[in-house]
Amino acid sequence: MTARNRQDKLAAKMIKPPIRIAIVGVGNCASTLVQGLSWYRRHQTQVGLMHPDIGGLSVADIEIACAFEVDTRKIGTPVAKAIFAPPNNARIFCPDPDDHGAMVHAGPRFDGVAAHLEHFPAERRAVTSDRESEPRIADVVGILRQSKADVLVNYLPVGSQKATEFYALACLEAGVAMVNCIPVFIASDPIWAGKFTSAGLPIIGDDVKSQFGATIIHRQLMALAEARGITVSSSYQLNVGGNTDFLNMLERSRLGSKKTSKTEAVNSQLHTPLDAGHIHIGPSDYIPFLNDQKVCYIRINAHGFGGLPMEVDVKLAVEDSPNSAGVVVDAIRCAWLALKVGVGGPLTSVCAALMKHPPQQFADTDAAAAMDEWIAAKTLLASQHR
Ligand SMILES: NC(=O)c1ccc[n+]([C@@H]2O[C@H](COP(=O)([O-])OP(=O)(O)OC[C@H]3O[C@@H](n4cnc5c(N)ncnc54)[C@H](O)[C@@H]3O)[C@@H](O)[C@H]2O)c1
Repeated sequence: MTARNRQDKLAAKMIKPPIRIAIVGVGNCASTLVQGLSWYRRHQTQVGLMHPDIGGLSVADIEIACAFEVDTRKIGTPVAKAIFAPPNNARIFCPDPDDHGAMVHAGPRFDGVAAHLEHFPAERRAVTSDRESEPRIADVVGILRQSKADVLVNYLPVGSQKATEFYALACLEAGVAMVNCIPVFIASDPIWAGKFTSAGLPIIGDDVKSQFGATIIHRQLMALAEARGITVSSSYQLNVGGNTDFLNMLERSRLGSKKTSKTEAVNSQLHTPLDAGHIHIGPSDYIPFLNDQKVCYIRINAHGFGGLPMEVDVKLAVEDSPNSAGVVVDAIRCAWLALKVGVGGPLTSVCAALMKHPPQQFADTDAAAAMDEWIAAKTLLASQHR
């Protein structure tokens, strides 16, 4: 479909709230996002939000259209219930989220499930096994269209390269925008980005930068050291947690792009990035009793006035999944705003502000300001479209 045809189709669709989202991977991140939509609908508060309003839309204007999974404990059930099925262990702060009739559908497995999970039967004993009868792209596109999804949110496990590419293609085919929360490079890959641009569809990615997490704190400290004339000589960031994301990342072969994404996000804040031998960032271990809590240790070794050494140690303990949902609610509304005004391709400033591995890295304050400018300009444009 050409960009022109796409724009005609979008105009004909008269995009209007609620924003209907499709979720791929009904794990812990999906759980906190779905709970959060109802929680903000029921509580008139701005607590925990970076942008209470984007383009005239609040978090309450986001609604679930459908979801895709491979875990039989979740498939065939309403999304509002599936988010509480094991092995999900995110904190429950809204036990009865609104059920708008959105269901969890079976999706194809591809590389979504790590082989080593078979050694953790309690966590992963119910994955679909009949690969022959797995849905094809036409089935998924059909569900996206039928459920009137506007934006697809990708929450697949780290290492799901083929599965992510499958859903990116499904978005292009169905005319749906994409928010890619995982470190498979789509928005930051020129070929994939070009496909979204040609289709006139917005894409925001890659690898969501948590609201107040390890990456943003580490980046700010590195930038601060440099701004104050301190020379950073080496740094590490060790992360442990007890959710399935950390369990999945025990398989080191799935971690290539995660390490790249996290390391580049921090190193990009230095004028002279540290060489590979002097920076170590990544998921470090799986500690089941931590559940969805993530504990992060950041160390920065540096030299100050007179070349004298100094050290910074930071410990951060946070609930992991809500920390991403606070960012994803902004990404969804920006993707929708871009759809509304007919802007396709990677949204450069929004990606830089919200994602660890955007097409272009900015300093955090510049990214936030550029994103706010983008929102203001597109909101004005959207008001003229009404
Ligand atoms: N703060 C954060 O939590 C954070 C930050 C950045 C990135 N992320 C990324 O977001 C992603 C989701 O995180 P999570 O904690 O929800 O993970 P999770 O393991 O809880 O959920 C992933 C879900 O995907 C399902 N799945 C596996 N293969 C599938 C397939 N082919 N089709 C459909 N579903 C499939 C699994 O069954 C599981 O329910 C991960 O890649 C994670 O690294 C999270």
